[in-house]
Amino acid sequence: MIYLDNHATTPCDPRVVEAMIPWLTDYFANPHSESHEAGRTAADAIERSIADMADSIGAPANSLIVTSGATESNNLAIRGICMHPRQKKRHLVTVATEHPAVLDVVADLEREGFRISRVDVHPSGHPMAGAVDLQKLADAIDDDTALVSVMWANNEIGTITPMREVTQLCHRRGVLVHCDASQAVGRTPIDVKQVDVDLLSGSAHKFYGPKGIGFLVAGNGQRRVRLKPQIVGGGQQRGIRSGTMNPAAIVAMSKAMSLAMEEMEQSNQRIRTFRDELYRQLSDRIGGIELNGPPLDSMYRLPGNLNILLDRIEGEAWMSATPDVAFSSGSACSSVDPQASHVIRAIGRSESEARRSVRFGIGRLNTKQEMTAAADQLAEAYEKLV
Ligand SMILES: Cc1ncc(COP(=O)(O)O)c(C=O)c1O
Repeated sequence: MIYLDNHATTPCDPRVVEAMIPWLTDYFANPHSESHEAGRTAADAIERSIADMADSIGAPANSLIVTSGATESNNLAIRGICMHPRQKKRHLVTVATEHPAVLDVVADLEREGFRISRVDVHPSGHPMAGAVDLQKLADAIDDDTALVSVMWANNEIGTITPMREVTQLCHRRGVLVHCDASQAVGRTPIDVKQVDVDLLSGSAHKFYGPKGIGFLVAGNGQRRVRLKPQIVGGGQQRGIRSGTMNPAAIVAMSKAMSLAMEEMEQSNQRIRTFRDELYRQLSDRIGGIELNGPPLDSMYRLPGNLNILLDRIEGEAWMSATPDVAFSSGSACSSVDPQASHVIRAIGRSESEARRSVRFGIGRLNTKQEMTAAADQLAEAYEKLV
């Protein structure tokens, strides 16, 4: 199988697995057992791991809360801000192309009485296709806005948001900014303090770590961030997120992040070349392919992302006819849902065009040979289908 679905998830790097194992075998103690050395050893490992991760993304160490992944982080950030007992504001702003882990949270809050603005993105053909329209974002904010939630990088079309411009615009109006950075961490440089984002979600399995572990940065020292806990219990993590912490997964996430940061520049160069090669080979052999999202050479596109619109067949049919290549027709979370991609629709494509769109995510462990082999299989399957 040729795995070209690195936006859905990435394989766990063998070096990450190696770093993780001792914390499952030898050092298994509960990190919250302060009464013995074994517990304190696990707690120390967690503390170091969190400090290293915070350092890697320019966040204060005491602001990083460990969660089960970006879905939980987004819930904690958005619900946490809105549901805080001192929150008086009742309006939220987000973007049409967000992941369901944001859109479904705000839809829930809408049912609970919040007013929601879902801002449009630049359309297909625009150099920043898929990026939030800043003028419309500014227009959406009002005196009752509690939070703006904008993703850093899109999981379907790879658009990178100019986050600094977003935070400047929102802070001028006194509004906090949450950012779902699940697709950005380890793929594009992130500096929480410099970009001045107030809350930031990340997920280890998007940067070659294990699934079921992620983080939320809550506060960067500039503005007060008050969260109502969404999971209560033993009071771990200063009561913001209760539950026994998982030393093995946290050590693994930290190792994965440090590798991703160290190797980012080099691996992005390789990944970009592979992605461009795949696109070239597919365009040469299949007529009428169009790109979804920003141009491939744009700084506003993730280097590993390729999303194409086919002329004559639906993505689902192409996927079924190419069983040895893993790619997708939308986000993994919505692939159980037969609706056409809301992201492709948001850039102005029709429902039929959305159904004819597919996503490839090239990753750090792919090879040049895989691009040719995948293009061969994809082109052959396409010819059979048309
Ligand atoms: C942009 C984005 N946000 C959130 C998520 C959910 O992350 P997790 O699987 O860690 O809950 C994903 C993963 O599919 C994603 O791509």
